[in-house]
Amino acid sequence: MTTIINGKEIAEKITENLKQKVSKMEIKPHLAVIQVGNNEASNIYVNLKKKKAEDVGIKSSIIKFHETITEQELINEIKKLNDNDNVNAILVQLPLPKNINTENIIKTIIPQKDVDGFTAENSGDLINGFAPKAMPCTPKGIIRLLKEYNIQIEGKHAVIVGRSNIVGKPLSMLLLRKNATVTICHSKTQNLKEITKQADILISAVGKKIIFKDMVKPDAVVIDVGIFKDENGKTTGDVDFENVKEVASYITPVPKGVGPMTIASLLENTVELFEQQQKK
Ligand code: GUN
Repeated sequence: MTTIINGKEIAEKITENLKQKVSKMEIKPHLAVIQVGNNEASNIYVNLKKKKAEDVGIKSSIIKFHETITEQELINEIKKLNDNDNVNAILVQLPLPKNINTENIIKTIIPQKDVDGFTAENSGDLINGFAPKAMPCTPKGIIRLLKEYNIQIEGKHAVIVGRSNIVGKPLSMLLLRKNATVTICHSKTQNLKEITKQADILISAVGKKIIFKDMVKPDAVVIDVGIFKDENGKTTGDVDFENVKEVASYITPVPKGVGPMTIASLLENTVELFEQQQKK
């Protein structure tokens, strides 16, 4: 029997706990989300983040800039948020327009407010097995899903397809911290199928339909991070869900799988950063 992992349900449990916690706080945590340009997917994500934050009682501000903003202007805006004691967490929605160097932007965010865990200090802590101020949201959400379903990580072969800074790379480090044997595949990987077939835990974070039934070992755990619209306008993921679910032991759907967990982790991180700042 295959278990369909219910990310929405677990995310609701997390946000309900956060709501209780935040309701007892005199000052509410404040998340600032920066969006540059009018990318359609980003509009959806950013508005959803704001709505979910407000459901939990977290204050959120969307700061939207026209795509003509210069890199220096954007850096100055982030510096203002760094210095603003009423802002506890900063998220710069990625991807940024091509005229802006993402590296320079991420490097401007102070680690104390880096809710994505993308800065050098936080990602360095993650690699070193130290305690980052925040863990990247999607990897954190995936580890939480595995934990909630009592899926063993230690000693398992985890194969990640996709090497992004947002998902693939930080997830590999989190899985390694949990004693998995980790393989990262990417667009230049040869014989992808031969590698994915060895996975006890297969995670795909690519953004196109790439994982089919013949690439999955019987009883593997399959986690689908991809989310995009297919040719009929239907929201779908990287995994050929209907066929893969016949061989997997556990599988996440799209939507209602990993997506809600990313947002729950973001809200958790916002509250954690707030608490760390209160202690200072
Ligand atoms: N774009 C897609 N996912 C993410 C994320 O987790 N954080 C940020 N900042 N941008 C994203």
